[in-house]
Amino acid sequence: MNGQSQKIENGDRPAETRRCLGFSGRHSLFLSLVFGVMLFFYFTNMRGMSPEWNPKQWMQSHSTKLFIPFSMQSKTNSSRSKGKAAGASIGLAQDATTARHPQLPSWLTERILKAKAAWQTAAPYVTRGPYLVEYPYEYHFTINEPQKCEQEKSFVVLMVPVAPHNRAHRDVIRSTWGSEKMIDGKAVTLFFLLGKQTESDAEQVHQQLVQESKDHHDLIQSDFVDCYKNLTIKTMVMLEWLNSFCSSAAYTMKIDSDIFLNVPNLVTMLQNAPRTNYMTGLVVYEAQVLRDPSSKWYVPMSILSDPVYPPYALGLGYILSLDLTKKLVEASQYVKAFYIEDAYLGLCMYHLGIRPVDPPNEFSFHVFPLIYNRCDYSKVIATTVHGYEDRVSIWRDIKRPGPHC
Ligand SMILES: *[C@@H]1O[C@H](CO)[C@@H](O)[C@H](O)[C@H]1NC(C)=O
Ligand SMILES: *[C@@H]1O[C@H](CO)[C@@H](O)[C@H](O)[C@H]1NC(C)=O
Repeated sequence: MNGQSQKIENGDRPAETRRCLGFSGRHSLFLSLVFGVMLFFYFTNMRGMSPEWNPKQWMQSHSTKLFIPFSMQSKTNSSRSKGKAAGASIGLAQDATTARHPQLPSWLTERILKAKAAWQTAAPYVTRGPYLVEYPYEYHFTINEPQKCEQEKSFVVLMVPVAPHNRAHRDVIRSTWGSEKMIDGKAVTLFFLLGKQTESDAEQVHQQLVQESKDHHDLIQSDFVDCYKNLTIKTMVMLEWLNSFCSSAAYTMKIDSDIFLNVPNLVTMLQNAPRTNYMTGLVVYEAQVLRDPSSKWYVPMSILSDPVYPPYALGLGYILSLDLTKKLVEASQYVKAFYIEDAYLGLCMYHLGIRPVDPPNEFSFHVFPLIYNRCDYSKVIATTVHGYEDRVSIWRDIKRPGPHC
């Protein structure tokens, strides 16, 4: 476990910082200073960013900038308790806001409530422009497995977004954690989620995919253009698909293709989890909405005027109770679909008045790569793996008999 990841996961601040969280005049001045310094570093560093944007790497090197300095989220006592996790649903907007941000300054509370009211009254619209994606929109499935969830009586459905040409990633997953189909009598079903390939070899890739689908019966493809900026479309199409073809399953987990997943630990956690209105993963609180137009995560005020995002689970791997798939698709009619998929789902959750919760064990999810060792990996649910490590060897090692720690 590295220090950075600990910081992001428990969200704890040193005592000195915590004492500055009230909002008296003196404190606001302090706050503005801190914020100014953060902005300075942020703008300075942004210039040095490579044009190829890799959000995970970005997170790893810029983690602190994701969080507004005045994190009001005190998670030291109450929020860890299972009782609270069980009561995941929070009814009305007003209650939700105050419960979530117990110490929010009133100007911010008002702003959030206003934005929320606007979303609720806005008519469904068609999205356009560089920061918005083509959603809602009627896409069509070109490769499908309509029966599989029913046939397997899936308990949890694992959904892995991956590019059409990336066969290698799919094969690694199939030969490692993707091969775990039954844990404690609970069926685990795996699917890969693809958009449309548009490169010059598109026809050839299509033929290969058709064959791959015949061999493995684990591909779902839709006809939107598959590219990083369209990840929000991929996620929403995934939710539509789950709602249509897997509604009898209890849970789904969206998981990135470069992650190690400990399937038994996942199933164990879910056996004791709420069955409705449940979303968990690595939840971030008070993440800033970035306003520097040169930032790869830039979101203009016209799209989202709030200074911070509501709590959301990072995209590396998050879990939803199946009832949420329908609710999130409905909410997406009222929340402008922008390109940052995990933050977008957070906004849809906020629209629903449902809060993502921390997992029972705070070290279950790691966005920063955890160097492989048998003991640590036996305890996680999902972690990013270092690029230099061989995931097949890791898998063989963790599965060999004998004590893990
Ligand atoms: C948090 O825990 C401390 C002691 O561990 C206790 O004094 C305090 O009242 C608790 N705060 C809340 C909000 O429960
Ligand atoms: C995302 O997908 C839509 C629908 O296929 C497409 O019109 C759009 O060009 C794609 N976006 C990018 C950046 O390729």
